[in-house]
Amino acid sequence: MNPFELYLPTRYIFGPGVENRTGEEVKRAGGSRVLLHYSGGSVRRSGLLDRVKTSLDEAGVAYVELSGVKPNPDMELAYEGIEQVRAEGLDFVLALGGGSVIDSAKAIALGAVYDGDAWDYYTGKARPAEALPIGTVPTLPAAGSEGSDSSVMNLTAEDGTVYKRSTGGECIVPKFALENPELTHTLPPEQTAAGVADIFTHTCERYFTQTRDVYLTDLFCESIMKTLIKYGPIVMEDPENKAAREQIMWASTMAHNNITGVGRDQDWASHMIEHELSALYDVTHGAGLAAVNPAWMRYVYKEDTARFVRFATEVFGVANDPWHPEVTALEGIKALKRFYRSLGLPVTLAELGGKEEDIPKLVSMIGIGEHGLGSFKVLHEEDVEAIYALMKEDDELD
Ligand code: NZQ
Ligand code: ZN
Repeated sequence: MNPFELYLPTRYIFGPGVENRTGEEVKRAGGSRVLLHYSGGSVRRSGLLDRVKTSLDEAGVAYVELSGVKPNPDMELAYEGIEQVRAEGLDFVLALGGGSVIDSAKAIALGAVYDGDAWDYYTGKARPAEALPIGTVPTLPAAGSEGSDSSVMNLTAEDGTVYKRSTGGECIVPKFALENPELTHTLPPEQTAAGVADIFTHTCERYFTQTRDVYLTDLFCESIMKTLIKYGPIVMEDPENKAAREQIMWASTMAHNNITGVGRDQDWASHMIEHELSALYDVTHGAGLAAVNPAWMRYVYKEDTARFVRFATEVFGVANDPWHPEVTALEGIKALKRFYRSLGLPVTLAELGGKEEDIPKLVSMIGIGEHGLGSFKVLHEEDVEAIYALMKEDDELD
């Protein structure tokens, strides 16, 4: 196990109606003048926006609104938010919605106290050290941004090229997450399924490691994956299933606040490979991962076949063939693909709307440096090209 330091400053408040506590939680976190940030669609329809406004009013917290966040959020709106925070003298950013809204709130919180261009944090020119405090009312179990130290944003350049980049730092970990699983009952099936794939992949990015003696966090990871395998199909069949929505929402947070990842090398190549699909084709992040991550597995499993055997047997209950570990390992990868298919997710590049002729462009967009990508197997350009090419039908595995 590697030495580590873990600090989890987020207060998680979980259960029906917790959004009615927003005002008091903003105050407890030191906020008095809030930028209320959201998309505009589902939070209005569900009544969440009105309930949060009432709670802020009752607590005597002033607020200014900024709506219009889109999936794969763009810096353009975040820049507007930064100006608003400065002009109105705001001291807190409150996000209501999915990962895109929370990430946009994080970009605003960073940019509002920075003299330069907030995009500097996403290019690596500046490192996040200071930000306004952030609070969240998440509505989509997927990105786990309500408990994570990262933010993923798009920047659309003048020539129309879209860059999708991430940044991270302790200062953007939200102060609170008010998690009401009932708010997720209205999710459309494709978002629910993509969320499951995102949560599953956040776990895989940590689970597939070369670090030895990480038994405890292996078990944490496996419990999250098994929870998704159990409750994913239930929630697809019955979107208002209370238990399933609760379990998946908590799995989402636990999968990405790094409880499962400490003390072990993490990979993250699948995320880097997916982000370019989202940038080029505007696909839903979790849907892209459902196609990328099994292809990555297919490419790298020989680096540690025993770990993939464990994944197959412990997570998917595949029968172990002790004389043919590669067969068992491949059965586990197939089981994951079948699981994603059963949720209605795309598992090929074509199903995502991607084209094979774009592969060289996708590879160059990542900007893989000399140190490569990932850690389970360090990938260079030719490896990533091969992984995009492996995003094909299941019979590739037979
Ligand atoms: O705009 P509305 O109407 O709210 O619709 C949204 C949006 O269209 C809808 N939605 C959200 N909650 C709903 C709902 N519809 C009905 N009922 C509800 N309760 O869902 C759509 C997608 O929302 P979005 O926020 O884009 O999805 P998600 O939460 O999956 O976030 C994806 C973004 O997070 C980034 C991704 O790259 C992507 O940009 N990630 C952020 C991470 C982080 N900060 O730690 C880690 C992740 O790996 C990920 O990269
Ligand atoms: Zn993700």
